[in-house]
Order: sequence, then C-alpha cells, then structure tokens
Amino acid sequence: MSPEMPKSGAAASSDGLAGRVSPASSTASTLPPRPIAFEDGTVPDDHLWGRRDWLTRFGWTAVLGSLGIGTLAFVRLLYRRAPIEAPTLFQAGRVVDYAANSVSDRYMADWRVFIVRDAGRLFAIYGRCTHLGCTPRWKGRDHKFKCPCHGSGFTRAGVNFEGPAPRPLERARVWQDRDGRLWVDVARRYRHDQWELPGACIELGPEERNA
Ligand code: FES
Repeated sequence: MSPEMPKSGAAASSDGLAGRVSPASSTASTLPPRPIAFEDGTVPDDHLWGRRDWLTRFGWTAVLGSLGIGTLAFVRLLYRRAPIEAPTLFQAGRVVDYAANSVSDRYMADWRVFIVRDAGRLFAIYGRCTHLGCTPRWKGRDHKFKCPCHGSGFTRAGVNFEGPAPRPLERARVWQDRDGRLWVDVARRYRHDQWELPGACIELGPEERNA
C-alpha cells in the first residue's frame, strides 16, 4: 500500500507533516501589527509612552507634589514651635545711679526708655511719640523731649505741649526689688490717666531723695 500523498491547501505543509505551520506563515504571524493611520494620514506614535501619557503623568506628579507640600506645611503648622518673644524686662541699676532732676537716655538704644528722676520720684518714659510713633530725643538745654518728625514737644514728665502729638508719652513699668535694684518692663505701659498706679513711678524715700 503506497503512502498517502499530502493534500494541497493551507493545511498542507512543505515537509509533508500535517498540522505544521509553514515558515512563511509563522513569520507573518509574529510581525507587530501595523499601526492604524488617522483619518488625515498620520500614523500614531508607537512609543511605549505616548505624548498624552507623558502629559497625564506630569499632571499627576504636579497634583501629588502639591498635595505633599500642602500636607508637610500643615504638619509643620501643627508642630510649630512657640515664637521666641523678645525680652521686655531689664535691670536699670539703682536710684543713686541717676542724679536728681535728670533724664538719662542710657537705655534708649536697647530698650527705648528714658529714666527720669525728679525731686521725689523716678519713672521710665517709653520713647515713642504719641503722634506717629517716632522716637523723641531729650533736649537738655531746652528741658524737653522733642520729636524730630513733626516737632512735637513734651515736658520732662512726658506731657505734650507743642506740635501734633495728641497725648503725653507713655511710661513703662518700673519697680525696685528688695536689694534696691531698679527693674523696668517695657511691655507694661501706662497712659497719662494711669500714672498714679503702682508701677508707673517710684516714690523715693527720704534717704533716696538725698542720695
Ligand atoms: S511722630 Fe512725633 S510729631 Fe509726628
């Protein structure tokens, strides 16, 4: 009995084995599919990441980056350290360091305070003009504080008497400790109608008046 001849057609292979795919058809099946052209004839980009993908990626990166920065800022706000406040208290020597009927500006540069001693009291004038906040200067020859900005003048007690300043200068809290040292707190200030309060001035004792 003669061997059966292979049938012609797609099912027939060149080596005569039924079911085997010919080399030509195998190559065709492994080729990448041809890109489909747009209507205008252009062929879409066949890169792994197309332009649209990159734009999407960039957009998400921007959104997530913004969220991350916002979260960090929020957390930092929650755990923000308490602000460091500038000190307001200083030690201003002793009564005997100030001559009777004198005005001292030794603490103006650091504390913006004049120490004034008259016949029976000592007080601390806060050196800020009540007009617009400039720093007045003590004019010893004229016996007055003079503001260089608009010309307001104040007596040695700090009372306004010329220029546009609407009210007297403020005083800073001053007191003596048990050892006789003077302390001034510029955070506590007294307006004219508070000058009789404790802290607005120190009443000097008989010994101090003669010191
Ligand atoms: S700020 Fe002192 S007179 Fe205007």
